[in-house]
Amino acid sequence: MKALITGGAGFIGSHLCETLLDQGHQVTAIDDLSTGSHSNIAHLESNKNFQLVVDTVLNDQLVNQLVRESEIVFHLASAVGVQLIIDQPTQTIQTIVEGTRVILDAAKRYRRPVLITSTSEVYGKGSKIPFAEDDDVVLGPTSTRRWLYASAKMLDEFLGLAHWYETRLPVVIIRLFNTVGPRQVGQYGMVLPRFVQKALAGDPLTVYGDGKQARCFCHVSDAVSAIIQLAQCKDAYGKVINVGSEEEISILNLANKVIEQTGSPSKIEFLSYEKAYTQGFDDMQRRVPDLARVKALISYEPKHDLTSVIQSTIDYWQRA
Ligand SMILES: NC(=O)c1ccc[n+]([C@@H]2O[C@H](COP(=O)([O-])OP(=O)(O)OC[C@H]3O[C@@H](n4cnc5c(N)ncnc54)[C@H](O)[C@@H]3O)[C@@H](O)[C@H]2O)c1
Repeated sequence: MKALITGGAGFIGSHLCETLLDQGHQVTAIDDLSTGSHSNIAHLESNKNFQLVVDTVLNDQLVNQLVRESEIVFHLASAVGVQLIIDQPTQTIQTIVEGTRVILDAAKRYRRPVLITSTSEVYGKGSKIPFAEDDDVVLGPTSTRRWLYASAKMLDEFLGLAHWYETRLPVVIIRLFNTVGPRQVGQYGMVLPRFVQKALAGDPLTVYGDGKQARCFCHVSDAVSAIIQLAQCKDAYGKVINVGSEEEISILNLANKVIEQTGSPSKIEFLSYEKAYTQGFDDMQRRVPDLARVKALISYEPKHDLTSVIQSTIDYWQRA
């Protein structure tokens, strides 16, 4: 197939490009290189089935042409990372909401299937664990900037589902839970690469709050396998689907595990959320996906446990 991947030079996008090329498909990636990087896909540029277009998904005309030339669209381009979202709120909303509007309009014109990557952030402060796709969402107030990311992604979901409802445009929406692995960078607020880099340097690992907040970390290759299968699964059209790992760990324990697996002399230090993010931050304690829906649709069983997820990140940063 001819696939268009928005955000293709990003962390998950670059792995998606790589896997689709390995499977013999043609891939065009569009990326403005804002949080992504050319180095993520430099090794793919000699492949005749690959092309990178450096531009924004907000460019209506260009997107129209690229979607027309493709058979399927994977829409990953987005503002990403808690720190970036808090620092650049207007750009975040514009990229997420307008970017998805542009992609869906073009897909509607040429009847192309679209997979949209949403996020577990839309579950907000929900306390019913695990999170199932049809659960109510509980977000914080609009004065707390963190929630604009979830709200913008939620609007993307509404828009994608609206296209499915009105014209049966094949739209699949996946809610990714924390996805990690090689090429993810820590500079926009991602915790695992941040911890691993600090541990390898022997510097202190900074845990925000009391570190009791817990997350489930999924290896990028497990997420990419689900993305590819779901995009081609007709029963997934018009649905929102969780993708992630169910193996939960507190952030403090994650820091300890990274120190142990790197054999680092690093210590752990604590920093309040207010100091870490200035004002405008709020966090949720737990985020565990209910994976019943994805398992009913495709063959999905994450292959990487937490130890191997951490190890692959360590191996990457040791080589970098
Ligand atoms: N990594 C995670 O844990 C996670 C969790 C939930 C959801 N997601 C979603 O998965 C997708 C990919 O995230 P990622 O972790 O690979 O982050 P990433 O920052 O590496 O990827 C996003 C890519 O989009 C590009 N981009 C941003 N604005 C653009 C624009 N206007 N035009 C073109 N390209 C643009 C960036 O340069 C980057 O390459 C995003 O939609 C994100 O919301 C990721």
